[in-house]
Amino acid sequence: MLTIPQFFEFPNDGKTKELCNFFLSMLEQKNKALYLHSQQVGNYSVSISAKMGLPFDEVACIKTAALLHDIGHLGVPNTILSKYPYLSTREYSTYRNHCLAGASMLENMSEFSHIMKIILAHHENWDGTGYPKRLKGVNIPLGARIISVANHYDRIINPCTEHWQKSHAAATRELQDKAGLNFDPDVVSAFLKSVVSAKK
Ligand SMILES: [Fe+2]
Repeated sequence: MLTIPQFFEFPNDGKTKELCNFFLSMLEQKNKALYLHSQQVGNYSVSISAKMGLPFDEVACIKTAALLHDIGHLGVPNTILSKYPYLSTREYSTYRNHCLAGASMLENMSEFSHIMKIILAHHENWDGTGYPKRLKGVNIPLGARIISVANHYDRIINPCTEHWQKSHAAATRELQDKAGLNFDPDVVSAFLKSVVSAKK
């Protein structure tokens, strides 16, 4: 399996790791770019969580949720995924359903009950303009607020999105501009201090 080195080896209990690897191998089979994106988001999320001083268990939970945040895309055709963000209204509605679909895939798995809530909320916006529930501010689980920043940054700079790829500097500026709107300002600040300062 092609991998990106991970900063933090988790999940580390047998059952969770097995299920996690199962979903990741499904992602890899379906769409390599999506699989690599999940790993990058996992790394960025760990860096942000550690910078925010979160306890080990919470970092571990957020890491797992980050790796699995887009498993709902397993049910979205690659033709739609590759067109993003240039989608028709109908395609966009299919695309947006991946939060609910991903959370539903983990129903009835007690190990993933908290992770499910994070996956469901990873496209909510700090100002209440996100989806699927238009949650606002601290009503959005912290893990989802962290993944949202990591996800946005990787989607912008990732070479797999060459038709709309931006530079690291432009991506950083965009996160700063959207802090307090799309993103939790504290999470953006932790991102800038950890991931961005490490790149200098
Ligand atoms: Fe997503």
